Amino acid sequence: MTDNSLITELVTRHGNKRQSLIPILQGVVEKESFISQTRMRQIAKELDISPADVYGTASFYSFLNTDERGKYVIRICKTIVCEMNNKDKIMQAIKGLLKINVGETSPDKKFTLLETNCLGWCAEGPAMLINDKVYTKLTPESVREIVFEYLQSTDN
Ligand code: FES
Repeated sequence: MTDNSLITELVTRHGNKRQSLIPILQGVVEKESFISQTRMRQIAKELDISPADVYGTASFYSFLNTDERGKYVIRICKTIVCEMNNKDKIMQAIKGLLKINVGETSPDKKFTLLETNCLGWCAEGPAMLINDKVYTKLTPESVREIVFEYLQSTDN
């Protein structure tokens, strides 16, 4: 059973009213990268609302992940300009390096690979995000180098 101290701390900071729900959910994502069922039950208890209510809010907002994600979330733009600029080759290079498919998380929980809609960097596509950092003008070689740096990083 996951201890409740994170939720208690977030409730102390944001309050235990219904309107505290989103900041509390964001606080959990910041700390743990996703909101587990256990956390949802703990939040429901603290705020005196139903777990279904917590789940409904968490799953409505795409920035409130309810699936476990890796430490680094890679999002490759799949929209038309990047698509026409060899986005598939970028994706293949990453899949080859990390040995995971779109929607999957590596067994060591370091990477999650996702596709995303236009990131607003179309003129410099193909583009991707790793967490909140944008990378543009990608080639299979440059993307392998970038991801390799994250693979090598020891801050995990
Ligand atoms: S189409 Fe990829 S960033 Fe806009």
